Amino acid sequence: MPRNAILCGDALELLPRLPDRCVELTVFSPPYDGIRDYGKNWNLDYKTLGAELFRVTAEGGVCAVVIGDGTKDFAKSLTTFRWAVEWVDRAGWRLFECCIYSRHGNPGAWWTQRFRVDHEYILIFFRGHRPRHFDKSTLMVPSKHAGKVYSGTDRLTNGGFKKIEPKAVNDMKCRGTLWEYATSNTEGNRTKLEHPATYPDKLADDLIQCFSKPGDLVLDPMCGSGTTCVMAAKSKRDYLGIEINPDYHHISMLRMRTEVDDDASLF
Ligand SMILES: C[S@@+](CC[C@H](N)C(=O)[O-])C[C@H]1O[C@@H](n2cnc3c(N)ncnc32)[C@H](O)[C@@H]1O
Repeated sequence: MPRNAILCGDALELLPRLPDRCVELTVFSPPYDGIRDYGKNWNLDYKTLGAELFRVTAEGGVCAVVIGDGTKDFAKSLTTFRWAVEWVDRAGWRLFECCIYSRHGNPGAWWTQRFRVDHEYILIFFRGHRPRHFDKSTLMVPSKHAGKVYSGTDRLTNGGFKKIEPKAVNDMKCRGTLWEYATSNTEGNRTKLEHPATYPDKLADDLIQCFSKPGDLVLDPMCGSGTTCVMAAKSKRDYLGIEINPDYHHISMLRMRTEVDDDASLF
């Protein structure tokens, strides 16, 4: 099985070549609702993809999908929700969480008819009883009330109140389900920007740190500019990327060489 490689080809043709249960973590973003032009209108069978990714995932392994919904005639496509229900009801996945990826960055288009969309979803699926690795200590965010002393009351389940002892608020706190990032346009990586729809390096890294350990195999079946593979390699995870478009495959290989100093091999 290829390991520490980025393959050029169709994920739906190459994934069946992988053995069962060989992947600990998958992080990827599919093309959805024709929102971006990736050089060709690639046909994506998300049902087969969900089943195939489930087959190659180890017990307790995790698959994080960064996805959103297009809008047509004022109505949302519900693509995200279709994927979630299909993958859970039929492919065998369980949904650990649906986080919101909140994007900061350039103001973007001028929206007059509807709300400006500044979020996507991060669907986090897992296989089996529970995720085999979960370390949210790597995902701390600054506390808004750091340095203050918290005192007051906690609400009880019966509606009553309980007085709590005054305590100092920590500088950092655990992240919740809202994950905020500047867009990758602000990262200043010109090679990466040659791909039209990348996610931030930090987003991939946060998922890798939280749900995998060094030596695990991290897969991105639609790796675009190679963000997941680059971040996995930097953290001593093994990686496997697949990209159908030869131009984007070239970008990912270039990034791997210049950012990780590792020669991704061609399959
Ligand atoms: C949203 S982009 C991924 C970007 C990536 N996360 C990054 O940060 O660079 C989706 C990618 O999926 C690729 N793709 C579409 N269908 C594919 C398929 N069947 N197999 C492999 N790659 C595919 C597209 O060419 C595109 O580069």
